[in-house]
Amino acid sequence: MSATRIVLLGPPGAGKGTQAVQLAKHLGVPHLSTGDLLRDELKRGTALGLKAKTFMDRGDLVPDQVIIDMIHGRLEGTLGFVLDGFPRNIVQAQMLDKVAIIERVLHIQVPKAEVIARSIARRMCESCGRNYNLLSSPPKKEGVCDVCGGKLIQRTDDTREVVERRYQVQYENEIEGLLSFYRAKPGVLREIDGRRSVDTVFQEILRIVAN
Ligand code: AP5
Repeated sequence: MSATRIVLLGPPGAGKGTQAVQLAKHLGVPHLSTGDLLRDELKRGTALGLKAKTFMDRGDLVPDQVIIDMIHGRLEGTLGFVLDGFPRNIVQAQMLDKVAIIERVLHIQVPKAEVIARSIARRMCESCGRNYNLLSSPPKKEGVCDVCGGKLIQRTDDTREVVERRYQVQYENEIEGLLSFYRAKPGVLREIDGRRSVDTVFQEILRIVAN
């Protein structure tokens, strides 16, 4: 039987969101992206969204308690999920440990120069949220979503300066602690080479969650 409580780790732009959407659909479980949840709060102008914005614009981690309050209720009682962007540090991993037994943690590795190039080239449809990349998966018509005809926009935190800070503060500084935490759980942590095509990476993920 496939694993259904899955965490995706990796630097900004590694492809966590791209893989998480497909994997959640394949497994029939929710895709929970803390980045998407925060952007949704911001779009709706909630107090949580406005508080998070200052941290997101700088490329810093949003305070743990804000994230934990936002995600906690969505995890309890669910049979499965694909977590994308959570946990980001040990405090968050410890919280997660209290509410769910994680079956697989997939660490998608992509070198810094490549994730920065990918992030700067990312575009999203402001209507349906579909993800494009000007380097690897451009839209048929510049600035227009292939699926719904919506306008393609760039995330405000996808500038070189902010992506470099996200990489350092949220990945370089935190990843070793997270990997040690999950290495201590036999058979849970798997490393994935994220430099390959989206489809190749997805096929490997499917093999890992099936065993
Ligand atoms: P979040 O939205 O989670 O940002 P991130 O982790 O930096 O991840 P990204 O969304 O940038 O990248 P991704 O790995 O999902 O890559 P994607 O699939 O899009 O968080 C935003 C902010 O919210 C954070 O900076 C922080 O402030 C806050 N936050 C979120 N969670 C938090 C938490 N738990 N605690 C505290 N703060 C938190 O792919 C990137 C691009 O590459 C796309 O254009 C895609 O098409 C392309 N691509 C994907 N795969 C490939 C491939 N194999 N080959 C070529 N191109 C590819």
